[in-house]
Amino acid sequence: MNEKQRLESQQVQSPKDSEEKDYSKYFQTVYRPPSLKDARRRGKEEIKYHDDFDIDERFKGMGNGRKFYIRTYGCQMNEHDTEVMAGIFMNLGYQATETVEDADVILMNTCAIRENAENKVFGELGHLKHLKMEKPDLLLGVCGCMAQQESVVNRILEKHPFVDMIFGTHNIHRLPEILNEAYMSKEMVVEVWSKEGDVIENLPKVRAGKIKAWVNIMYGCDKFCTYCIVPYTRGKERSRRPEDIIQEVRQLAAHGYKEITLLGQNVNAYGKDFEDIDYRFGDLMDDLRKVDIPRVRFTTSHPRDFDDHLIEVLANKGNLVEHIHLPVQSGSSAMLKIMGRKYTREQFLELVRKIKQAIPDVSLSTDIIVGFPNETDEQFEETLSLYREVGFETAYTFIYSAREGTPAAKMKDNVSMEVKKERLQRLNALVNDFSRKAMEAHKGQIVEVLVEGESKNNPEILSGYTRKNKLVNFKGPKSAIGSLVQVKITDAKTWTLNGEMIEAKESVEVM
Ligand code: SAH
Ligand code: SF4
Ligand code: F3S
Repeated sequence: MNEKQRLESQQVQSPKDSEEKDYSKYFQTVYRPPSLKDARRRGKEEIKYHDDFDIDERFKGMGNGRKFYIRTYGCQMNEHDTEVMAGIFMNLGYQATETVEDADVILMNTCAIRENAENKVFGELGHLKHLKMEKPDLLLGVCGCMAQQESVVNRILEKHPFVDMIFGTHNIHRLPEILNEAYMSKEMVVEVWSKEGDVIENLPKVRAGKIKAWVNIMYGCDKFCTYCIVPYTRGKERSRRPEDIIQEVRQLAAHGYKEITLLGQNVNAYGKDFEDIDYRFGDLMDDLRKVDIPRVRFTTSHPRDFDDHLIEVLANKGNLVEHIHLPVQSGSSAMLKIMGRKYTREQFLELVRKIKQAIPDVSLSTDIIVGFPNETDEQFEETLSLYREVGFETAYTFIYSAREGTPAAKMKDNVSMEVKKERLQRLNALVNDFSRKAMEAHKGQIVEVLVEGESKNNPEILSGYTRKNKLVNFKGPKSAIGSLVQVKITDAKTWTLNGEMIEAKESVEVM
């Protein structure tokens, strides 16, 4: 299939008229909304790598005199996609603006992970309708993970027909074409690919910060945890080539960046899809250890693929920080089984034991879902006991949210919302206790802080993060912003530390 045929088969065009409920007549040739069934498929076809992205001559200057605004929801992957779209906008001649009122194009880069994430977006669309009425030339777009879902596209068609364009996660490189169509067409432009495309290497980016940067190492997820929509919205696992990643990190270091976070839905699956080389996440981390950048983090790792080689490499530290985010989801093996996590409580605890043995000062954090269908009190207690046993320093905690199209959404659920909320509160109380304890253990210690800027509440105070990702506030000269300094911790709260700066540190040793 060539690019044109592919687009024709994936493209959906739709009417703006909210009165019309039967869209089929508008789609005599192809009416293919994003399909979860297609998104579930995992083909064997090889992924191609491209570095020939270019803005077509026709579109150059499209944004002259115009401003764009992107609102980002969801995970770091989405934040990074926003940086790419901002890069494309700038290349088209647009200027960035911080306010929606000032914008000529507004994009909502959305997240589909839980129902409340989606509700926020629909609520916001309601607000933006007024802007659109005051300023008819304004272009309003919905992109990101929500756009990959058929039901969302249909709901926008019906309830929010003033939206000008909908596109998904697999075709953000087509932004120039999509914008162009939206300017030319009176109809809503909908271009959502159900299936992932190739990896495009040379997309422009406007990074949100100058100190810390995101670096994608892989796209997609093949784990298909039974509750999760991500494998449908982000497609199959595709790893970037190591040389491209290493080159990007080297360039970031040369531009003065001090910390990078490697991104993937399951970074431990990195390299599994390479057919020509035997090169996995541990190998990548080992190579990045040799790059002259002070800190390397990663998110998120799945316990299942966390192998011994990776542990061994992380134990060498240097620029590889001693903080690992390791989502467990539940402490009950029975729950883990129906969640499709493919490990047991015992296997998780064994992995933690190995990690702690190799990296005794490691800081572990996690994600937990409470109130999964039919979770019993005992099973929930097992989550609490696992939390205590591991001694996680912090956690993101969620009430289970049914996602249409996932296997869990079809499960009958006998747990009431009241019980789910109560479990979440109990878990959060435990999370707070452990966080406070971990913070208090810092008192009197001298820690390395990467200074990010003035504290939000007080410009006299600087703030930054430790290697273990703890937020530290302290008095110091503005010249320290962007550098690594030593801070003595004087006081600890549940989520932040206070301290006094001791000295500036030129750079950290990279072994
Ligand atoms: N790839 C990551 C998770 C990405 S989503 C991983 O597996 O570690 C971030 C978190 O959202 C998940 O770890 C999970 O705790 C939560 N989550 C995902 N789907 C959810 C759902 N349907 N309801 C509630 N929480 C969910
Ligand atoms: Fe979702 Fe599981 Fe993939 Fe994480 S590993 S993105 S929870 S399917
Ligand atoms: Fe949300 Fe998509 Fe990330 S669903 S969590 S934005 S991958």
